[in-house]
Amino acid sequence: MASIPPATSTPRRLEGKVALITGGASGIGECTARIFVQHGAKVVIADVQDELGHNLCQEFGSDEIISYVHCDVTSDSDVKNAVDTAVSKYGKLDIMFNNAGVSGSPGANILGSDNEEFKKVFDVNVYGPFLGAKHAARVMIPAKKGCILFTSSAVSVCCGESSHAYAASKHAVVGLAKNLCVELGQYGIRVNSISPFTVVTPMMKNLLGIQNKREAEEFISSIGNLKTVILEPEDIANAALYLASDESKYVSGMNLVVDGGYHVTNPSFAIAMRNLYS
Ligand SMILES: NC(=O)c1ccc[n+]([C@@H]2O[C@H](COP(=O)([O-])OP(=O)(O)OC[C@H]3O[C@@H](n4cnc5c(N)ncnc54)[C@H](O)[C@@H]3O)[C@@H](O)[C@H]2O)c1
Repeated sequence: MASIPPATSTPRRLEGKVALITGGASGIGECTARIFVQHGAKVVIADVQDELGHNLCQEFGSDEIISYVHCDVTSDSDVKNAVDTAVSKYGKLDIMFNNAGVSGSPGANILGSDNEEFKKVFDVNVYGPFLGAKHAARVMIPAKKGCILFTSSAVSVCCGESSHAYAASKHAVVGLAKNLCVELGQYGIRVNSISPFTVVTPMMKNLLGIQNKREAEEFISSIGNLKTVILEPEDIANAALYLASDESKYVSGMNLVVDGGYHVTNPSFAIAMRNLYS
């Protein structure tokens, strides 16, 4: 058995690894980029928000550590370029985090659903990650190692709370990850997804229509199952850190749900009983 390091040591868990993070200019992706760098990874962030992306890189002061590439994940040539940039700049690609996504409009009304918007949500949330996985596999298969991650959502395991487009797209991401896990296992490539509960990011603030961070957190906390703690982007980034690091070297095909147990609850019966006897 490997020797266990002393509890006081804080190893850099991604030392020597190279990661590409789509949607890395904001929210969960931005937070993950910061944590990956802290843990010794070289990071390329790929996004369409160029100013935010460049600003994030400038904070670190050197493109030896982190760099930005403009990349619309729905464009095959952009995704190809992002992967090739990671390889040409830092020599390889160990971690592909397909995280960019859009929420589309809220509402779960099938008759009111806009056809074009459905396609747009699928384009970014499913076709984009497909392209990311495809180009990552192109360089990971010859290397006979790699880690492909996707950001799905708690709506992949708990339905009726988002638009049909968003829910279906996030289910599709989990299916894609699991299917890839089977194909790519023979090359030593692990494939997993992460499914966060509601977390305050620019996307979520806009969706909730609440711009004040604390107000948004209080609202989310009131509907969450796990009380006294707030789900933050760092919690999702730490899940990604675990799945990207060698600590999870035998974990593949998993949808890691980070929701404080929300999807295993169904309070309807208890609420109905309380109402009946109150
Ligand atoms: N915030 C939540 O509550 C929550 C919950 C579950 C899942 N998610 C998922 O987490 C991921 C990150 O979302 P977030 O909450 O950090 O939102 P965010 O809006 O802060 O970040 C998303 C990033 O993706 C980028 N992006 C969007 N379309 C793109 C495209 N075509 N090409 C490249 N980049 C593009 C945006 O520019 C943005 O920087 C998404 O996949 C989202 O669906 C979020």
